[in-house]
Amino acid sequence: MKFRMIVLFLMFNLLIKESIPLRILRVSVPAYRMRGQPAQLQCDYELGGDGLYSVKWYRDDEEFYRYLPKYNPPSHAYKLEGVKVDLSKSDDRRVVLQQVTLRSSGVYRCEVSAEAPSFASAAGEGRMEVVYLPREGPRITGNQQEGGGDHLFLNCTSGRSYPAAVLSWDIDGEKVTNPDLLVPYGATAHAHGLVSVALGLLVPRGRSMQVRCTARVAPAWREGSEAVVGHGLLAHSKEAMLLVRSGSERPPASVILLAGSVLLLLLRTFQT
Ligand SMILES: *[C@@H]1O[C@H](CO)[C@@H](O)[C@H](O)[C@H]1NC(C)=O
Repeated sequence: MKFRMIVLFLMFNLLIKESIPLRILRVSVPAYRMRGQPAQLQCDYELGGDGLYSVKWYRDDEEFYRYLPKYNPPSHAYKLEGVKVDLSKSDDRRVVLQQVTLRSSGVYRCEVSAEAPSFASAAGEGRMEVVYLPREGPRITGNQQEGGGDHLFLNCTSGRSYPAAVLSWDIDGEKVTNPDLLVPYGATAHAHGLVSVALGLLVPRGRSMQVRCTARVAPAWREGSEAVVGHGLLAHSKEAMLLVRSGSERPPASVILLAGSVLLLLLRTFQT
């Protein structure tokens, strides 16, 4: 009786080994990380009846980490730009990257292999994009030459970021959508892959108004990744505001006003 049970058990075991092969359950790679943050990559797999031979991690097809249970220590990291593995926190299912940089962006793949006799292997991947938020807010500058007689030209330049900021103008709280009033400039490349953009605005002369330029760095619009849409933490915006008081003649009244207050200040300084 006992013997028969054991035989049944063995047969059952064999069946299981046959029917459940090694498979990846889930590879989780954060879609976005801020520069300087750590990143945790997770590889969940099911061995079925197989023994684990190795777990390997690649970024854009270049291996940077492997885990072999038969080795001592089992974890080993390879040099790869932008990828710095925290070995103390990494094992056969998890890899922790220290302080990601803009060079860390890419496709991360986990590959799990079984021992003999099956030698089965399975892989899964995910893309990570590293975001750099601008340190400074956008800057508004004026240009007397541009704009012509009945318009004043204002230029808004974003701080350096990755991905590029999206700029918008509003006048008295209302977003400017008229393309005739907007002058977009292409992105300017800076060191370390950062970019800045600029957007000009033509403001009609002859009235007072409050203008505002907003720079938004929100990676959510990229590829419409569902992982980030509605994720308020990553959407980031900064703005610059300016009160424009322009007369219909040149030079604009704002310049005269400014000159006036500077004069007053000077007078006061001399008086005391
Ligand atoms: C506006 O700023 C951008 C970027 O700083 C610059 O390339 C462009 O020449 C400026 N335009 C004017 C009219 O000053």
